[in-house]
Amino acid sequence: MTTILITGGAGFIGSHLVRLFVNKYPNYKIVNLDLLTYAGNLENLRDVENAPNYVFEKADINDPTQLAQVLEKHRPEGIIHLAAESHVDRSISNPVAFVETNVLGTVKLLNAVKNLWGADLEGKRFYHVSTDEVYGSLGDEGFFTETTAYDPRSPYSASKAASDHFVRAYYHTFHLPVVLSNCSNNYGPNQFPEKLIPLMINNIRTEKPLPVYGDGQNVRDWLWVKDHALAIDAIFHGGRTGETYNIGGNNEWTNLALVQQLCDIMDELLGRTPGDSRKLISFVKDRPGHDRRYAIDAYKLHHELGWSPTVQFAEGFRETAKWYLEHEDWLEHVVSGEYRKYYEGQYQD
Ligand code: NAD
Ligand code: DAU
Repeated sequence: MTTILITGGAGFIGSHLVRLFVNKYPNYKIVNLDLLTYAGNLENLRDVENAPNYVFEKADINDPTQLAQVLEKHRPEGIIHLAAESHVDRSISNPVAFVETNVLGTVKLLNAVKNLWGADLEGKRFYHVSTDEVYGSLGDEGFFTETTAYDPRSPYSASKAASDHFVRAYYHTFHLPVVLSNCSNNYGPNQFPEKLIPLMINNIRTEKPLPVYGDGQNVRDWLWVKDHALAIDAIFHGGRTGETYNIGGNNEWTNLALVQQLCDIMDELLGRTPGDSRKLISFVKDRPGHDRRYAIDAYKLHHELGWSPTVQFAEGFRETAKWYLEHEDWLEHVVSGEYRKYYEGQYQD
């Protein structure tokens, strides 16, 4: 049986990836290593937690002893590394936490995996999941490609850029068989409601102001989270060692247009008068150093591995709004902190 260790599997993208791998690859053992920070929520994985090929390990990528124990116990052939501090606004208020988890944690993980595998690198793979934010900010034209120079501008993107550099350094220096991807903004079920879309859904639902930063004209390229998981699957199994693949939705929206569209969908789903929720939009102080535009050129991934997004935004966006409305208990648990109790009831340290 092949064993794959996924870090950060209780988070937003990680939980979709764990579910995909547990269901699609019954001959793999999937080990989910997660510290369960505020962003880790095992309720996301209720439907697979009893699967025979799934194991959860509560551990900190920043703790070499814990890492060595989990790696020795399961001896994975593949690592897919998603664990990170992921929210830009938090990186502005506490940059050090981002250096600790994203930079030091990644280097400690690389080291632990290098120690585990030694010279026996046949059939091994270390996959690092990264972000398009490492490339900086675009003007009105152009796209990020895999050869765009790094130009991170927030503590979050700087920490992810540093982690990318370390992953490549372990490839060149120690021949660790790595592969990387840099993805655009994900949306879909189970995203922590500090990020734009679930935050707005929650505020519309509870009729609170909708805080749009600055002039609302910043542009993001949105991708259905399950399409990101499928891209990771394609790259993990077919990507060339040492290479980087960009992943994107080819789906650019200004924040304001996106929030307006969301208001209209929510009015319809909630049976409110059309236009009601738009009245909640409130322009607030801009995010410091707010990147203006991200847009991904995913040609390489499509050309080499045949991946394209499967879900159209109009469909995925409506599905997302419906999911949060149909899972108000999930939202309530996250907002109230109740979700943390799930771990205590379900697992022992
Ligand atoms: P998330 O914040 O929802 O989840 C992060 C997970 O990592 C949580 O389960 C958390 O408990 C875990 N974690 C944090 N610190 C840890 C530690 N020290 N040890 C072990 N586990 C720890 O993040 P996400 O949005 O799912 O993003 C996952 C990855 O994908 C990140 O590396 C992020 O940079 C990258 N990414 C995210 C997006 C996006 O739109 N969300 C886009 C591109 C890339
Ligand atoms: O591009 C990929 C990145 O996308 C990932 O690497 C990050 O982990 C992920 O958090 C996301 O970063 P963003 O900063 O783009 O996402 P966020 O949801 O925080 O914000 C999206 C846009 O919406 C951004 O331009 C800021 C704006 N915004 C955000 C919030 C939370 C608002 O206008 N109001 C808000 O309240």
